[in-house]
Amino acid sequence: MIKKLMAANWKMFKTWEQATQTARELIVAIGQDLPSDREVLLIPPFTALRGVSETLAGQKGYFLGGQNFYPAKEGAFTGEISPAQLIDAGCRFALVGHSERRHVLGEKDEFLAHKVFYGLDNKLKIILCVGEKIQERKKGLVEQVLTSQLEKGLEKIDRNVSALDLVIAYEPVWAIGTGETAVNEDIVQVHSFIRKKLKDFLDHGEQIRILYGGSVKPDNCGSIIWLDNVDGVLVGGASLKADSFSRIVQA
Ligand code: PGA
Repeated sequence: MIKKLMAANWKMFKTWEQATQTARELIVAIGQDLPSDREVLLIPPFTALRGVSETLAGQKGYFLGGQNFYPAKEGAFTGEISPAQLIDAGCRFALVGHSERRHVLGEKDEFLAHKVFYGLDNKLKIILCVGEKIQERKKGLVEQVLTSQLEKGLEKIDRNVSALDLVIAYEPVWAIGTGETAVNEDIVQVHSFIRKKLKDFLDHGEQIRILYGGSVKPDNCGSIIWLDNVDGVLVGGASLKADSFSRIVQA
């Protein structure tokens, strides 16, 4: 059974001490009650990876991820981090193409495609994030934008990629950090569209997990998580506190 992935993206928040403390509190809050169909993924800032990794050691069902990486083994890339360094710090997963990387840091589809390929080739499980901006939604371009982001983002990888190694996160840009969530009908419609595209592009498209992200909270997660083709959530703001994220994990 492929489990639902409950991912916490801590972005540029938390010191080493705060991150390890939140991870500890989360483990205590969830205790023995991590549902057997769930996996928890913590994605702290780089400086806290090692500390959170040590906190998660021996905890079944908990994983660590990196928010970003540069697609090279090593070299003169000041300020960047490699897949091998993420793995060395305890990561199994990494995000690629988060909306803030696309729209604040200016990463383009071609570069993201290379990162997807390179990360997978270097033993990371990749979460490729896609999502439309509000203007694109208003113009009726959601399917066009997602088709383009998926087609380009996945173009360099093997059709035969394992469903355990690739995850897609649908995060409408207008719902990230705004308190606005897509309505359930829209989530179902978009996730079913993404599923269809994944089946077109990949051999195991039926099993690849599709996460929803964008203002997921303890009180809306319970309805989102059971929608068709929703295989988990990617949570920013509401994942920063153990109490709130533990309720999301168990929703
Ligand atoms: P949010 O962020 O939950 O704060 O909307 C989601 C994300 O950016 O992954």
